[in-house]
Amino acid sequence: MPFEFVLNGRPTRVDVPANMPLLWVIRDVLNLRGTKYGCGMALCGACTVHIDGEATRSCVTDVSSVVGKKITTIEGLSSDGSHPAQLAWQEVDVPQCGYCQAGQIMSAAALLAKTPRPTNAQIDEAMEGNLCRCGTYLRIREAIHRAAAMSAGKAKPAAAPATSQNRLGA
Ligand code: FES
Ligand code: FES
Repeated sequence: MPFEFVLNGRPTRVDVPANMPLLWVIRDVLNLRGTKYGCGMALCGACTVHIDGEATRSCVTDVSSVVGKKITTIEGLSSDGSHPAQLAWQEVDVPQCGYCQAGQIMSAAALLAKTPRPTNAQIDEAMEGNLCRCGTYLRIREAIHRAAAMSAGKAKPAAAPATSQNRLGA
């Protein structure tokens, strides 16, 4: 069955079963592998993408529910890895194994879009559904503050965008 939506700025059409999870469509049909599978039950956040700007668990989102919507994955967050969250993640050296980090960045980016200077409490609330088995939570919080400062012009990025994309967008 055909479904159309906008993925990372491009009109996209897929012909798949209506109840196929968006995560499968992104990874297995459209071959974008930055978004990760963790639990498949909306419990870990590894599969987080933006749907019309909202951080959403793609593992429990049927493709039929995103028709006509704008979907952004980690690959589409910026064209060159220069989103403040991507740069801050690199500067703070957040990832350990890295598996959860695309989802973490997508949740952080959605938070920053709505709350440009979040408090620790706002960060913890927005990020609580994104689990990290490596325990990088304190660095994630630091990186979000760093990204907020960059966006506000109070800090300059020190990282090279290309490297950031390689590490955090793949
Ligand atoms: S894989 Fe979607 S929340 Fe864990
Ligand atoms: S960095 Fe390893 S799970 Fe988060």
